[in-house]
Amino acid sequence: MSILWNKLIRPILFSLDAERAHEIGLTALKTGLASSFADGDQTYSKAMGTEAFGLKFPNPVGIAAGFDKNGVAVNQLASLGFGFVEVGTVTCEPQPGNPKPRLFRLREHRALINRLGFNNDGAVEIAERLRAIDPKCVVGVNIGKNKDVSNDEAAENYLKCFEIVQPVADYVAVNISSPNTPGLREMQKPEALEDLLSTLQEKNRELGAKPLLIKIAPDLTEAEIESIVALAERYAISGIIATNTTIERNGLTAEEVSRCGDGGLSGTPLKKRSTEVIATIYRYSKGRLPIIGVGGIFTAEDAFEKVATGASLLQVYSGFVYGGPSFAGDLSRGLGEILASKGFAKIDEAVGSAAAHSSA
Ligand code: FNR
Repeated sequence: MSILWNKLIRPILFSLDAERAHEIGLTALKTGLASSFADGDQTYSKAMGTEAFGLKFPNPVGIAAGFDKNGVAVNQLASLGFGFVEVGTVTCEPQPGNPKPRLFRLREHRALINRLGFNNDGAVEIAERLRAIDPKCVVGVNIGKNKDVSNDEAAENYLKCFEIVQPVADYVAVNISSPNTPGLREMQKPEALEDLLSTLQEKNRELGAKPLLIKIAPDLTEAEIESIVALAERYAISGIIATNTTIERNGLTAEEVSRCGDGGLSGTPLKKRSTEVIATIYRYSKGRLPIIGVGGIFTAEDAFEKVATGASLLQVYSGFVYGGPSFAGDLSRGLGEILASKGFAKIDEAVGSAAAHSSA
């Protein structure tokens, strides 16, 4: 990993307020400056290429939703070695998000807490921006509902957003799991979810179907996950993204909890729970539903664990914030080395290998 990043850039960025540092990081990305701090080769071996829900991914490591909320740095992220970029969360109408401060670092835990609340430019502007680029990787768009829309009107609000972004996305992820929009997680309940998925899939067919995925919370019971998997299968959902941030605060001190306040916790404290959710989805779907594994991936070993548990693709956020510009390339290469050392010729062969092993 780049010495310049570790010794100079990261300490400067980490001395600033976390959201300010994020804005500077995005600007550095947009201007191409960030690429100069990524040392080494950002390409990946052909063995890392994979296919899921009809899309070809140059490598399985994506940047999770929330990093490039407005789709301003898609190709720059691709050039850092990300095989796909999930833009958003995008809402139908633009909105400012929650009052600041709303993003906090917990360095000792390699974690973040955020309550940004879907600050974004809105579907029309973001769709225009995406239409104007020639993407160098797979581009997903993650959609959510506007804060001032009640749950009774949520499906309609998601639908309007979906209609606008679907044509410019390779896949659409439906976010029903952010803890920072009141009532949003209620959309994971069977009745609300069924209404939402049937509404979106009907429009999806009308527009020329694209892969539709859902992104779920880590704070669900096994029975809730089971019912979500059943609905996902019934409504021909292409995959499940597991997981979003957690509202749990396991392992944090009382001081840390009160300093940061409400919001979603990501990074290392989320790793184990997100892997458990992946295992549960894999088991209930009998390995038939592609899973994008996300939550606390910092090393190639973390990445391999998610794959072996059942994830076909991976996403990272906190690991990139702590690891810097070389992170995606290093992770992809490291994962490739682990796969080769275990005798897997392609990542697909390793997906769910631990699950198959344990039930054998
Ligand atoms: C997020 N995440 C997120 N997820 C989502 O679906 N829509 C969003 O807008 C955001 N926004 C967001 C902002 C910030 C600052 C963070 C840290 C996270 C959740 C993210 O995509 C991912 O699911 C979790 O962060 C878990 O992955 P990591 O961070 O442990 O790799």
